[in-house]
Amino acid sequence: MIVAEGLGKNYTSGGRPLPVLRSLDLEIASEAFVAVVGPSGSGKTTLLGLLAGLDEPSDGRVLLDGEDIFAMTEDGRAEFRVHNVGFVFQTFHLLPTLTALENVLVPIELKGKQVGAREHAEGLLARVGLGARFDHYPAQLSGGEQQRVALARAFANRPKILFADEPTGNLDRDTGASIVEMLEELNQEARTTLVLVTHDLALAERADRIVSLAEGRIASDRPGRDSARPIAVGT
Ligand SMILES: Nc1ncnc2c1ncn2[C@@H]1O[C@H](COP(=O)(O)OP(=O)(O)O)[C@@H](O)[C@H]1O
Ligand SMILES: [Mg+2]
Repeated sequence: MIVAEGLGKNYTSGGRPLPVLRSLDLEIASEAFVAVVGPSGSGKTTLLGLLAGLDEPSDGRVLLDGEDIFAMTEDGRAEFRVHNVGFVFQTFHLLPTLTALENVLVPIELKGKQVGAREHAEGLLARVGLGARFDHYPAQLSGGEQQRVALARAFANRPKILFADEPTGNLDRDTGASIVEMLEELNQEARTTLVLVTHDLALAERADRIVSLAEGRIASDRPGRDSARPIAVGT
């Protein structure tokens, strides 16, 4: 489902190239729940952005569902993302001038006019416990509530793959736990492939597989809690 081959990313710092990801190879099976851990600055967010096609690599390629996403035009890639990929940012990235409901409707409308879009978005918000908050603007919601709107939005088009970058990083323990439970439900019930960046090792242990990054390389790759669930290698 997700294949990264020889993936490299350099930034420039003071005119010199700064390698952030170094020739990284990774395969993630469909429907897997993979946690990505590693120290701050190890390249977790960079990796997630490349796997999701939000950012372009310096080297290598990424195949999602067999499609080479960087062989596409930028528009083609954006279109592919709308149909296949959901992304939950650590800092929510909700649009401040839109209500909770309108934020969830954004990706749905990007996909084209659809009958029942509003009901679908309302259902998603109800599912994340915000049935009474449709018309709230982000500034009128708590951090945990904003993260739940972001989750409803990421899931709006029923993506095959959901990327979440430290989605519980800014939340208290109980709210964080409820966000994780929702992600696990989506992974198991909707069979969404889930790639979760976290620095919370207890949370990472809930994944099928734990990939640790260090200095832009995979330092370890091991089964998580549910190692009874088969980790198929390949797509
Ligand atoms: N846009 C950027 N320009 C320059 N350097 C960056 C940029 N984004 C990230 N970096 C650098 O890349 C490294 C990895 O960053 P990141 O992927 O955000 O790490 P992590 O998410 O593991 O904390 C860091 O050292 C960071 O300073
Ligand atoms: Mg990060």
